[in-house]
Amino acid sequence: MARKPIIAGNWKMNMTRVQATELIEELKPLVKDTKNEVVICVPYTDLDVAVKLCEGTNIKVGAQNVAWAEKGAFTAEISADMLLELGTTYVILGHSERRQYFGETDASVNARLKTALAKGLKPIVCVGETLEQREKNRTKTVIRKQVMGGLAGISEEDLLNTVIAYEPVWAIGTGKTATSEQAEETIKFVRSVIAKMFTRKLANKVRIQYGGSMNPKNVKELMAMPNIDGGIIGGASLKAGDFSLVVNYDK
Ligand code: PGA
Repeated sequence: MARKPIIAGNWKMNMTRVQATELIEELKPLVKDTKNEVVICVPYTDLDVAVKLCEGTNIKVGAQNVAWAEKGAFTAEISADMLLELGTTYVILGHSERRQYFGETDASVNARLKTALAKGLKPIVCVGETLEQREKNRTKTVIRKQVMGGLAGISEEDLLNTVIAYEPVWAIGTGKTATSEQAEETIKFVRSVIAKMFTRKLANKVRIQYGGSMNPKNVKELMAMPNIDGGIIGGASLKAGDFSLVVNYDK
């Protein structure tokens, strides 16, 4: 079964509402003819404006995190119901910046994932090794632990609603891309871990993205790899021209 490519922008902590409006207006006509799935994961404060601007277009809007709790005394957290009421479709979970600066762990990612799935948000679960881990040949151990911990206890149906993103930490925002062979090798490994947790058949249906300095220059080569089903685009998603070239890599 062919897996539909999914190209997701991760705006991180960039773009005020005014800037978001300009970027989305510029982006809409540039990506309207693609057959690939297009997502922009925007700051919470841009969600309502982004959803409104993307209504009736092929662009879906995502958030960059969600609380595991349904509601209550969790200062600064944002719940799944809050996101859904604004029309949010996707949510990024376990991004390496959350793991690195905000204490996110496989257990907290797993708790957020279960809530997102129960509520009907579509999660994008990020995994990836640091440079030190890669240099010490620990990539597979680290990735296996993140995938198994992050996806623990979800149903087969939930798995099919989940997108995985392999983002080597050393390639994020550094201009250093993993070579397409390195990305393919690790993503193939992610798929084999999922096959062990579930079944090979299911693992072959799950979409797995690459992320880390993906841009108009390297997207074609990465997307030519059999196991790479899309990308998470940080820096290059902040310019409509660049992001649209990534989305339209197959044109
Ligand atoms: P980058 O970020 O494209 O700027 O490397 C990707 C990401 O962190 O999702």
